Amino acid sequence: MAKEQAAVIILFGGSGDLARRKLYPAMFGLFQRGYLQKRFAVIGTARRPWSDEHLREIVVDAVKTMPGATLEQAQSFASHFYYQSHDVTDADHYITLKTLAAKLDDQYQVGGNRIYYMAMAPNFFATIAEHLKSEALLTDNGFNRLVIEKPFGHDYASAKALNDSITATFDESQIYRIDHYLGKEMAQAIMALRFANPMIENVWHKDFIQNIQITLAEAVGVEERAGYYEQSGAIRDMIQNHVMQLVADLTMAKPDSLTSEAVHKVKGDVFDHLHVYTPEEACDNFVRGQYTAAVIDGDAVTGYRDETGVAKDSLTDTFVAGKILVDTPDFEGVPIYVRTGKRLTRKSTQITVVFKPAKDNLFNTSDEPDTLTICVEPSEGFDLVLNGKKLGQSNDLIPENLAFRHDPKLAKQAPEAYERLIQDALQGDQTNFTRWTELAKTWQYVDSILDAWQNNTTMPEYPAGTMGPKESFDLLARDGNEWHWQPTHVKMAD
Ligand SMILES: NC(=O)c1ccc[n+]([C@@H]2O[C@H](COP(=O)([O-])OP(=O)(O)OC[C@H]3O[C@@H](n4cnc5c(N)ncnc54)[C@H](OP(=O)(O)O)[C@@H]3O)[C@@H](O)[C@H]2O)c1
Repeated sequence: MAKEQAAVIILFGGSGDLARRKLYPAMFGLFQRGYLQKRFAVIGTARRPWSDEHLREIVVDAVKTMPGATLEQAQSFASHFYYQSHDVTDADHYITLKTLAAKLDDQYQVGGNRIYYMAMAPNFFATIAEHLKSEALLTDNGFNRLVIEKPFGHDYASAKALNDSITATFDESQIYRIDHYLGKEMAQAIMALRFANPMIENVWHKDFIQNIQITLAEAVGVEERAGYYEQSGAIRDMIQNHVMQLVADLTMAKPDSLTSEAVHKVKGDVFDHLHVYTPEEACDNFVRGQYTAAVIDGDAVTGYRDETGVAKDSLTDTFVAGKILVDTPDFEGVPIYVRTGKRLTRKSTQITVVFKPAKDNLFNTSDEPDTLTICVEPSEGFDLVLNGKKLGQSNDLIPENLAFRHDPKLAKQAPEAYERLIQDALQGDQTNFTRWTELAKTWQYVDSILDAWQNNTTMPEYPAGTMGPKESFDLLARDGNEWHWQPTHVKMAD
């Protein structure tokens, strides 16, 4: 049986969408696996006047149909939940919360261990952190850890202001900034693939890698999130955090060990070596786009500017493609092409490493370079495409695909991203959370592109259901490259 973790978890935003859809199921997964057993309590807080019983019903509803769950198990899990009606802007409410947390600390014998989970709109993060300090909620015994959702700031200046306010209460070793991509199975598997296989490790270098391509494609449009998305766009929503973290995973040097300290040291080195473009170069190397109306599978799909809550003259990017350069000795000059967007052909996150062709090739050349594709979602695994010899007498080459996919049934049983991350926070492992120094560098990088775009109001368009504007394809063609993954509409398999 796994080692039980003891803590009182105070969840700000306990009635919210994230809590119901992700956090309660994730905590239940930890309960099923024995990481949470008897010595834990969760205080859900929000303004609405719920009772403990009502929150418990919500929790049971959120988890009862999970794999392996029984109603009895769901109810036993939910009995650890307490509700505190709480307005995070009201200092008095923190006193009530403190009293409840102390009572539950005693009742469940958690030894002062506290997790403060901010699952609320980001404009409240600083207020909560300030009140936790002023009303003295942090314990003297046990650990005090802050888990904070994205987005962490809107640009460098706001991210710094937020960081300053939370570090007035918590030090860096107590802060767990969520980037849920870092909890995904295949994102975590990149290190194993790179560093546990000498045949891969030895060619993971600018001498052998022609380019790297990262695609985070969404098939959905902006849905009900226009209010947030209009202020964010694809570059803030996806590039600054998830894509940049994947860039670091793919280009960092081998860490001395798998400790958080060692991994963040080599990641930090990547962010220190991001090649920052001049405004003119930024416009050449980063293209944006907006989806327009289209008919997909017989259904009319609304264009971005006609979505509810979107300005008719919006210049928000629903698509971004860019060429990132990392000026480390191992990766200098290797283009890392990234793209992400809404209303693309299909939902998929995948990474392709395109290798250079063989030197002095003795065979009739193949059209295909060797490639390694890491499929992050929806399927999880990788494809290694190598040149084989065609059957028969000729010396012609043919690309052969060695494909591996995790068994979808087993993959379903593996912990979800949030489950891994909450487990890590309980265990004090910060490896899969972002550091302030990393955020500072990635925001400064993204700010430089946003600044360059400000003076350039052209907004390329792409019909919903396609893989982005022509400019994205031109970006690679200019270097003699092309996007490896080009799904034709809907039909193509992963
Ligand atoms: N939902 C997702 O899938 C998702 C994914 C990734 C990241 N996130 C991030 O997670 C955070 C929460 O998102 P969400 O979708 O769960 O938001 P949400 O559904 O709008 O929930 C917001 C929560 O905050 C509470 N709240 C609002 N004002 C309050 C106040 N003054 N005092 C106390 N509680 C207050 C709300 O309850 P009351 O109205 O009862 O007060 C509710 O519980 C955001 O930072 C978001 O960016 C969400």
